Amino acid sequence: MRIDIITIFPEYFGALDVSLIGKAAQRGEIAFGVHDLRSWARDVHRTVDDAPFGGGPGMVMKPEPWAGAIDALAGAGTGAVTGAGAAVGAGDSSGDQDDPDPDPPHLIVPTPAGRVFDQALAARLAGASHLIFACGRYEGIDARVARDAATRMPVWEITIGDYVLAGGELAALVMIEAICRLLPGVLGNAGSAADDSFGAGQGPMAGLLEGPAYTRPRVWRGHEVPAVLLSGDHAAIARWRRDQALRRTARNRPDLVERLSREALDDRDRRVLSEAGLADSTEDVAH
Ligand code: 6GU
Repeated sequence: MRIDIITIFPEYFGALDVSLIGKAAQRGEIAFGVHDLRSWARDVHRTVDDAPFGGGPGMVMKPEPWAGAIDALAGAGTGAVTGAGAAVGAGDSSGDQDDPDPDPPHLIVPTPAGRVFDQALAARLAGASHLIFACGRYEGIDARVARDAATRMPVWEITIGDYVLAGGELAALVMIEAICRLLPGVLGNAGSAADDSFGAGQGPMAGLLEGPAYTRPRVWRGHEVPAVLLSGDHAAIARWRRDQALRRTARNRPDLVERLSREALDDRDRRVLSEAGLADSTEDVAH
């Protein structure tokens, strides 16, 4: 996977050098390019913003630097760079109108006005070979940039949640970490991604939050590890973990309980949810 990031604050992306993703990048499994938008600004002040048409507060990011950056990077996944230096002579059939890129990059525009990022979207984007993140600041990027790019590549406007950040950089980092940990070979333990909260959409814990985890010592500050985890009874441990996951999901994310399918729940599940004060909506759980 190749990931290019366009930003006026490249310093934010130092975080990509550390931990699992930094190691995957060192091994060559992910190639990151972090690009300063201002290198595509053409005036001496390297201006990237201007006042909004129609009035209003704040500034809007000018389209030309973004187009320059996106055009330059869109060919980077295949090495087929168009524009200056590319072959455009008579008889050459590589014009982008006749010959669209069969595997174009996906352009991701982090914006609080986008669709909400979730695990399913992370998994979908993890299947792409080249992502370009366009990190806007101020009141956003001139809307024609996304519209123009969409004639050549998939464009995704995405938010990471219902709160407002000062710019797209941290949202991009959140998405990049969620996407990259799904790539084969990036996670140390191949099983961990499937067992996570929201993991995989299959398996016994699908759609539930993860329950609590414990390690040594067995008693710490007077708090004991639940005895069942020391019992060696694997069926009892699995059932206990599921009960805990159901209770935590009911308490913290009742919206997720509503989404569980009837077939996903057995009688004990319904009883646990009922006792947690929240029955699943598909069945009357009175007993
Ligand atoms: Cl993607 N951008 C900004 N500026 N704020 C956000 C966001 C994105 N997602 C949540 N808040």
